[in-house]
Amino acid sequence: MSNIGSYEKRRENFSWDIAKEVLAWKEDEILNIGAMCSDRICAQGKGDKKALIWQGFGGKQKTYTFNDLRVLSNGFAKFLQDLGVAPGEKVCLFMDKIPELYVSFLGVLKMGAVAQPLFSAFGDESLEVRLLSADTKVIFTTRKHVKKVRKIQDRLPALEKIVVVEGNPNKLRDEEIYMSMEDFRVENFKVYEAGPDTPSVLHYTSGTTGQPKGAQHGHGSIWGQALTTSWVLDLKDDDIYWCTADPGWVTGTSYGIIGPWSLGVTQCVLDSGFTSAAWYKFIQENKVTVWYSAPTAIRSLMRDGEELVKQYDLSSLRHLASVGEPLNAEAVIWSEKVYGLPFLDTFWQTETGSMMITNIPGVKIKPGSMGKPFPGIEAGILDLQTNEPVTEPGTVGLIAFRPGWPSMFKEYVKKPDIYRSKFVGAADDAMPAELRVDESIWYVSGDRASFDKDGYYWFVGRDDDVINTGGHLVGPFEIESALVEHEAIAEAAAIGKPDEVNMEVVKVFITLNPSFEPSDDLELNIMNFIRKRLSPLAMPQEIEYMEKLPKTRSGKILRRYLKALEWGHEVGDLSTLEDD
Ligand code: WT7
Repeated sequence: MSNIGSYEKRRENFSWDIAKEVLAWKEDEILNIGAMCSDRICAQGKGDKKALIWQGFGGKQKTYTFNDLRVLSNGFAKFLQDLGVAPGEKVCLFMDKIPELYVSFLGVLKMGAVAQPLFSAFGDESLEVRLLSADTKVIFTTRKHVKKVRKIQDRLPALEKIVVVEGNPNKLRDEEIYMSMEDFRVENFKVYEAGPDTPSVLHYTSGTTGQPKGAQHGHGSIWGQALTTSWVLDLKDDDIYWCTADPGWVTGTSYGIIGPWSLGVTQCVLDSGFTSAAWYKFIQENKVTVWYSAPTAIRSLMRDGEELVKQYDLSSLRHLASVGEPLNAEAVIWSEKVYGLPFLDTFWQTETGSMMITNIPGVKIKPGSMGKPFPGIEAGILDLQTNEPVTEPGTVGLIAFRPGWPSMFKEYVKKPDIYRSKFVGAADDAMPAELRVDESIWYVSGDRASFDKDGYYWFVGRDDDVINTGGHLVGPFEIESALVEHEAIAEAAAIGKPDEVNMEVVKVFITLNPSFEPSDDLELNIMNFIRKRLSPLAMPQEIEYMEKLPKTRSGKILRRYLKALEWGHEVGDLSTLEDD
């Protein structure tokens, strides 16, 4: 029996308070994600239950109980308090998927500070932009990654302390401290009493223009994350859950920390590079029952074929789900054939904080469709011209949601106008807080889709130029601004080009400065330049030289034109491309 029972009945009788029932949370209890994922589970008598089964490179294993999470996260919380960090201040977590990342996340939240996890493969420029924007005060990192922080720290006036939590560096600099998590077991800590809107987790997300924006969530997001984890991922007390996402991205926190642990469920983490064989072995060894992953990974597994699957015992698996990019029908059909279970597609965003449109256990799957709105979520498709909700099935428009779900982002850090622009239908002077209650307002996702006569949603594509590579968003502006810092490059445009496994990879068009000539060496140099400054995700897989870049009359580079050429789409009327 699935946790959700009947989808229709849940839609009819829905209240977000059901999340509190699911967690058995009483109104007089403290609302704090950090404590609700550790202390509270211990108080329910599950202190000795395994919370985290971790495996690193070379098969290294570590296991932590919920009581370990409790005392070790207390250690981080107390450590931060002693450093003078105040509630609301930002603490960045910049590490691989090591246990310290998961535990410090809870510790930061427990003392009321904001957890800002960043993908450890980010280069110094990606890091700098995000730390500067957030006025981050403390960064937890490791010996492996501290060098990138050192490179930029002089340009970060708000950054007071760099804490190395793994791999004691031989030489520490002035603002650096070494702390070993295991030496900081603190039995009692007074948890910060948060409200639903108290800032909790901060994730950066890329748009078409400008640098990435910090989408700030509140502690109340836990209601959305816990209920979707229960009803969509269907986690039960005895499950062994595996979310393959990195907590540097929202899936890795909403469903790789908060969802499972708030429900007291054991989860495992694999912190080593991807191979299909390693993944199957991990499932087999840990007897994983519920697996949440991404289409890119699924396509890679498909490529490695059915024979490999047969070499492993994957019979523990009982439920699979996917997020991040369109999950093609073939992948759903293939997984049903080889694993005996279809991957259930789920759609949501950093901004939404939790799943919005999803396939649901027990509800018929239409392979290739994202499913239906989660109970309690009012979704619509807005007409591309008028922003009015469409009524005719099959009409392509913008996916939109009625504000009011608990995990909705509270702001873009220091960018109130952009936050505001994500909502339509509001009175012009409405403040963000009011946006969440007005019934005429839609949050507009920036994705295009349609629904069919049965209410299933079908993804069409993004409404902007953001590149989705393997489920990770990369902003073309970020790449272009980094490219033009290269001595050889005069102008640059970045687009996504189709890729079988990653859906899209980055392709760039450049014009060279006088005295530079195209060459293989130059290309390699440019690729490495971007990989090191931004990340491997942003690294161009193809570079095309141009005499000049196509531009609008006002001088803006016509990315869409380049993209249409690349994808073999109708280029259409250039004047319409000039609009944005
Ligand atoms: C964008 C959000 C929150 C999940 C991790 C990514 C795309 C996400 C799907 C899906 C088609 C999807 C959209 C969305 N996306 N899920 N099931 N089918 N596209 O979070 O980095 O904020 O990216 O990922 O374009 O807007 P994100």
